[in-house]
Amino acid sequence: MDEQGFDYNGVDSWTTIILLYNSALKEVGTKLAILNDEFQHVHQYNPIEHIKSRIKTPESIVKKLKRRGYESTTENMVKYVNDIAGIRVICSFTSDIFRIADMLARQSDIRVHSIKDYIRNPKESGYKSYHMIVSVPIFLSDRSVDTRVEIQIRTVAMDFWASLEHKINYKYEGEVPEHIKRELSECAEMVSDLDAKMMSLNEEIKEADEEERVLSPFLVP
Ligand code: GTP
Ligand code: MG
Repeated sequence: MDEQGFDYNGVDSWTTIILLYNSALKEVGTKLAILNDEFQHVHQYNPIEHIKSRIKTPESIVKKLKRRGYESTTENMVKYVNDIAGIRVICSFTSDIFRIADMLARQSDIRVHSIKDYIRNPKESGYKSYHMIVSVPIFLSDRSVDTRVEIQIRTVAMDFWASLEHKINYKYEGEVPEHIKRELSECAEMVSDLDAKMMSLNEEIKEADEEERVLSPFLVP
């Protein structure tokens, strides 16, 4: 058994491993749903627009291992493929992304392995998103297994951009014509401007709400 709790000596078959990753997606999904509900309760709004989760297909797991020069074994897949379980959290505003990420990272049963902040440091293509590799303990009948999940947190606008860029890359198999790259990069700028404007508008509304709440007890009906 390794330090995560995985048992490779025939006990952890492919189906057990997939069960673990599915369970990890449920755990993280529940954590996010709770944070969203609490936000609604305390701040009267939902920071999360929606959540998508997926398990990587066996084909892409094998492809990734091959690309990195590893043999296709269950041991290697657990060790080297961090995104077998993936969850994408789509938020309304950029500020929500950092709040959610911070709240997750501070939970005592979550271990953060790595963070890639493509919001403060966007990729050359213009890609923006906040990535975390975390692990959560999954309690089985006889042991607990720390299971990894890739969490991608982004705004609706960032997600819109990333979906189109992914589709374009797929269509051109990586050989994207220069003018399309340029236009995508311009769109990325527009996405950043839109997110910044939407966030500041929202801040303004929140401030106005606060003032109203403070003043309301003194207002004569
Ligand atoms: P892989 O790309 O999964 O091999 O991992 P990595 O080690 O390069 O990690 P990274 O955090 O950079 O990317 C992980 C995932 O983020 C990818 O599988 C995509 O889902 C997404 N992603 C990263 N870069 C881009 C990008 O330029 N465009 C789009 N559309 N998605 C991206
Ligand atoms: Mg990936």
